[in-house]
Amino acid sequence: MKKLQIGNVTLDNPVILAPMAGVSDLPFRLLCREMGAALVCMEMVSAKAIYYNNKNTDSLMEIHPEEVPASLQLFGSDPQILAEMAKRIEERPFSILDLNMGCPVPKVVNNGEGSALMKDPKLVEQILTALVKAINKPVPFPLWMTMSMPWRSRRSQKPVVWQRWRCTDGLEPSTTADRQTGISSHR
Ligand SMILES: Cc1cc2nc3c(=O)[nH]c(=O)nc-3n(C[C@H](O)[C@H](O)[C@H](O)COP(=O)(O)O)c2cc1C
Repeated sequence: MKKLQIGNVTLDNPVILAPMAGVSDLPFRLLCREMGAALVCMEMVSAKAIYYNNKNTDSLMEIHPEEVPASLQLFGSDPQILAEMAKRIEERPFSILDLNMGCPVPKVVNNGEGSALMKDPKLVEQILTALVKAINKPVPFPLWMTMSMPWRSRRSQKPVVWQRWRCTDGLEPSTTADRQTGISSHR
Protein backbone atom coordinates (compact mmCIF):
# COMPACT_ATOMS: atom_id res chain seq x y z
CA MET A 1 0.00 0.00 0.00
CA LYS A 2 1.07 3.59 -0.61
CA LYS A 3 2.81 5.47 2.19
CA LEU A 4 1.13 8.57 3.60
CA GLN A 5 3.06 11.65 4.68
CA ILE A 6 1.57 13.93 7.35
CA GLY A 7 4.00 16.71 8.20
CA ASN A 8 7.15 14.95 9.43
CA VAL A 9 5.30 11.68 10.07
CA THR A 10 5.57 8.96 7.42
CA LEU A 11 2.88 6.32 7.64
CA ASP A 12 3.44 2.88 6.10
CA ASN A 13 -0.03 2.90 4.62
CA PRO A 14 -3.08 5.19 4.55
CA VAL A 15 -5.10 3.14 7.08
CA ILE A 16 -5.83 5.20 10.22
CA LEU A 17 -7.87 4.25 13.28
CA ALA A 18 -10.25 7.20 13.83
CA PRO A 19 -10.49 8.82 17.26
CA MET A 20 -13.48 7.29 19.05
CA ALA A 21 -14.25 8.32 22.63
CA GLY A 22 -15.11 5.24 24.66
CA VAL A 23 -13.86 2.89 21.91
CA SER A 24 -10.28 3.58 20.83
CA ASP A 25 -8.70 2.58 24.14
CA LEU A 26 -5.24 1.07 24.49
CA PRO A 27 -6.11 -2.63 23.89
CA PHE A 28 -8.27 -1.72 20.88
CA ARG A 29 -5.53 0.48 19.43
CA LEU A 30 -2.95 -2.29 19.84
CA LEU A 31 -5.27 -4.72 18.07
CA CYS A 32 -5.74 -2.26 15.22
CA ARG A 33 -1.97 -1.78 14.92
CA GLU A 34 -1.57 -5.56 14.87
CA MET A 35 -4.16 -5.72 12.07
CA GLY A 36 -2.22 -3.19 10.00
CA ALA A 37 -3.39 0.33 10.89
CA ALA A 38 -0.46 2.68 10.26
CA LEU A 39 -1.68 5.35 12.69
CA VAL A 40 -3.93 5.11 15.71
CA CYS A 41 -5.83 7.99 17.31
CA MET A 42 -6.35 8.12 21.05
CA GLU A 43 -9.70 8.89 22.70
CA MET A 44 -10.31 12.62 22.94
CA VAL A 45 -9.04 14.25 26.14
CA SER A 46 -10.31 17.44 27.75
CA ALA A 47 -7.59 20.10 28.03
CA LYS A 48 -9.31 21.34 31.19
CA ALA A 49 -9.18 17.84 32.70
CA ILE A 50 -5.40 17.70 32.18
CA TYR A 51 -5.17 21.20 33.62
CA TYR A 52 -6.94 20.11 36.80
CA ASN A 53 -4.94 16.83 36.97
CA ASN A 54 -8.00 14.65 36.59
CA LYS A 55 -6.93 11.05 37.37
CA ASN A 56 -9.10 9.44 34.65
CA THR A 57 -7.38 11.58 32.08
CA ASP A 58 -4.01 10.00 32.84
CA SER A 59 -5.22 6.59 31.76
CA LEU A 60 -6.74 8.10 28.60
CA MET A 61 -3.28 9.37 27.67
CA GLU A 62 -1.46 6.14 28.43
CA ILE A 63 0.48 5.10 25.37
CA HIS A 64 2.28 1.80 24.63
CA PRO A 65 5.58 1.81 22.69
CA GLU A 66 4.11 -0.62 20.13
CA GLU A 67 1.30 1.71 19.13
CA VAL A 68 3.52 4.60 18.05
CA PRO A 69 2.82 6.56 15.86
CA ALA A 70 -0.28 7.74 17.66
CA SER A 71 -2.29 10.94 17.50
CA LEU A 72 -3.60 12.66 20.61
CA GLN A 73 -6.83 14.61 20.37
CA LEU A 74 -7.51 17.50 22.74
CA PHE A 75 -10.79 19.28 23.12
CA GLY A 76 -11.33 22.64 24.73
CA SER A 77 -12.00 26.26 23.89
CA ASP A 78 -9.58 28.31 25.99
CA PRO A 79 -6.49 29.13 23.86
CA GLN A 80 -4.24 29.51 26.90
CA ILE A 81 -5.32 26.28 28.59
CA LEU A 82 -5.09 24.33 25.31
CA ALA A 83 -1.62 25.74 24.62
CA GLU A 84 -0.39 25.06 28.15
CA MET A 85 -1.70 21.51 28.04
CA ALA A 86 -0.14 20.89 24.62
CA LYS A 87 3.14 22.00 26.16
CA ARG A 88 2.65 19.83 29.23
CA ILE A 89 2.21 16.68 27.15
CA GLU A 90 4.88 17.53 24.63
CA GLU A 91 7.40 15.10 26.10
CA ARG A 92 5.04 12.18 25.63
CA PRO A 93 5.58 10.15 22.46
CA PHE A 94 2.61 11.41 20.46
CA SER A 95 3.35 12.05 16.79
CA ILE A 96 0.36 14.22 15.97
CA LEU A 97 -1.77 16.66 17.95
CA ASP A 98 -5.41 16.84 16.90
CA LEU A 99 -7.75 19.65 17.92
CA ASN A 100 -11.32 18.41 18.18
CA MET A 101 -13.72 20.61 16.28
CA GLY A 102 -16.16 17.86 15.40
CA CYS A 103 -17.70 16.48 18.60
CA PRO A 104 -21.46 17.18 18.58
CA VAL A 105 -22.23 15.85 22.11
CA PRO A 106 -24.30 18.44 24.07
CA LYS A 107 -22.08 18.44 27.18
CA VAL A 108 -19.12 19.36 24.95
CA VAL A 109 -20.89 21.75 22.55
CA ASN A 110 -22.70 23.55 25.38
CA ASN A 111 -19.28 24.51 26.78
CA GLY A 112 -18.33 26.05 23.44
CA GLU A 113 -15.99 23.10 22.72
CA GLY A 114 -15.89 20.42 19.99
CA SER A 115 -17.93 21.33 16.93
CA ALA A 116 -19.11 24.59 18.59
CA LEU A 117 -15.66 25.97 17.68
CA MET A 118 -16.71 25.94 14.04
CA LYS A 119 -19.03 28.84 14.80
CA ASP A 120 -16.22 31.05 16.04
CA PRO A 121 -13.36 31.28 13.51
CA LYS A 122 -11.72 34.12 15.42
CA LEU A 123 -11.41 31.94 18.52
CA VAL A 124 -10.11 29.06 16.39
CA GLU A 125 -7.46 31.38 15.03
CA GLN A 126 -6.44 32.33 18.59
CA ILE A 127 -6.32 28.67 19.63
CA LEU A 128 -4.22 27.63 16.62
CA THR A 129 -1.84 30.55 17.06
CA ALA A 130 -1.41 29.72 20.76
CA LEU A 131 -0.86 26.01 20.00
CA VAL A 132 1.69 26.64 17.26
CA LYS A 133 3.61 29.00 19.58
CA ALA A 134 3.51 26.59 22.51
CA ILE A 135 4.71 23.45 20.74
CA ASN A 136 8.48 23.02 20.51
CA LYS A 137 8.47 19.65 18.77
CA PRO A 138 10.50 19.47 15.56
CA VAL A 139 8.81 21.43 12.82
CA PRO A 140 6.58 20.53 11.12
CA PHE A 141 4.92 18.73 14.06
CA PRO A 142 1.52 17.97 12.56
CA LEU A 143 -1.46 19.71 14.07
CA TRP A 144 -4.77 18.32 12.91
CA MET A 145 -8.23 19.70 13.15
CA THR A 146 -11.11 17.31 13.11
CA MET A 147 -14.05 19.24 11.78
CA SER A 148 -17.76 18.92 11.89
CA MET A 149 -19.53 18.57 8.55
CA PRO A 150 -22.78 20.39 9.37
CA TRP A 151 -21.07 23.63 10.33
CA ARG A 152 -18.28 23.29 7.81
CA SER A 153 -20.78 23.06 4.96
CA ARG A 154 -22.63 26.22 5.90
CA ARG A 155 -21.80 28.63 3.13
CA SER A 156 -21.54 31.66 5.37
CA GLN A 157 -18.93 29.99 7.60
CA LYS A 158 -16.67 28.32 5.09
CA PRO A 159 -14.84 31.28 3.51
CA VAL A 160 -14.34 33.03 6.85
CA VAL A 161 -12.98 29.95 8.51
CA TRP A 162 -10.52 29.12 5.73
CA GLN A 163 -9.36 32.67 5.26
CA ARG A 164 -8.47 33.00 8.94
CA TRP A 165 -6.73 29.64 9.24
CA ARG A 166 -4.62 30.34 6.18
CA CYS A 167 -3.36 33.44 7.98
CA THR A 168 -2.22 31.53 11.04
CA ASP A 169 1.58 31.36 11.03
CA GLY A 170 3.10 27.92 11.22
CA LEU A 171 0.12 26.01 9.85
CA GLU A 172 0.07 24.01 6.66
CA PRO A 173 -3.56 24.17 5.61
CA SER A 174 -2.92 21.82 2.71
CA THR A 175 -3.07 18.87 5.14
CA THR A 176 -6.75 19.37 5.76
CA ALA A 177 -7.55 20.81 2.35
CA ASP A 178 -6.03 17.84 0.53
CA ARG A 179 -7.05 14.91 2.64
CA GLN A 180 -10.06 15.60 4.80
CA THR A 181 -12.59 15.54 2.02
CA GLY A 182 -14.36 12.27 2.82
CA ILE A 183 -17.91 12.05 4.04
CA SER A 184 -18.51 10.12 7.23
CA SER A 185 -20.55 6.98 6.80
CA HIS A 186 -21.40 6.95 10.50
CA ARG A 187 -25.03 7.94 11.16
C1 LIG B 1 -18.42 5.90 19.19
C2 LIG B 1 -17.75 7.01 18.43
C3 LIG B 1 -16.97 7.91 19.11
C4 LIG B 1 -16.32 8.95 18.42
N1 LIG B 1 -15.52 9.81 19.09
C5 LIG B 1 -14.83 10.75 18.42
C6 LIG B 1 -13.90 11.58 19.07
O1 LIG B 1 -13.68 11.51 20.28
N2 LIG B 1 -13.25 12.49 18.33
C7 LIG B 1 -13.46 12.62 16.98
O2 LIG B 1 -12.82 13.46 16.33
N3 LIG B 1 -14.32 11.84 16.33
C8 LIG B 1 -14.99 10.90 17.02
N4 LIG B 1 -15.85 10.08 16.36
C9 LIG B 1 -15.99 10.24 14.95
C10 LIG B 1 -15.17 9.24 14.20
O3 LIG B 1 -13.81 9.52 14.37
C11 LIG B 1 -15.67 9.39 12.78
O4 LIG B 1 -16.84 8.67 12.73
C12 LIG B 1 -14.75 8.90 11.71
O5 LIG B 1 -13.71 9.76 11.55
C13 LIG B 1 -15.48 8.80 10.39
O6 LIG B 1 -15.45 7.51 10.05
P1 LIG B 1 -16.81 6.71 9.70
O7 LIG B 1 -17.38 7.43 8.53
O8 LIG B 1 -16.29 5.37 9.35
O9 LIG B 1 -17.66 6.74 10.93
C14 LIG B 1 -16.50 9.06 17.02
C15 LIG B 1 -17.32 8.16 16.35
C16 LIG B 1 -17.91 7.14 17.03
C17 LIG B 1 -18.75 6.15 16.25
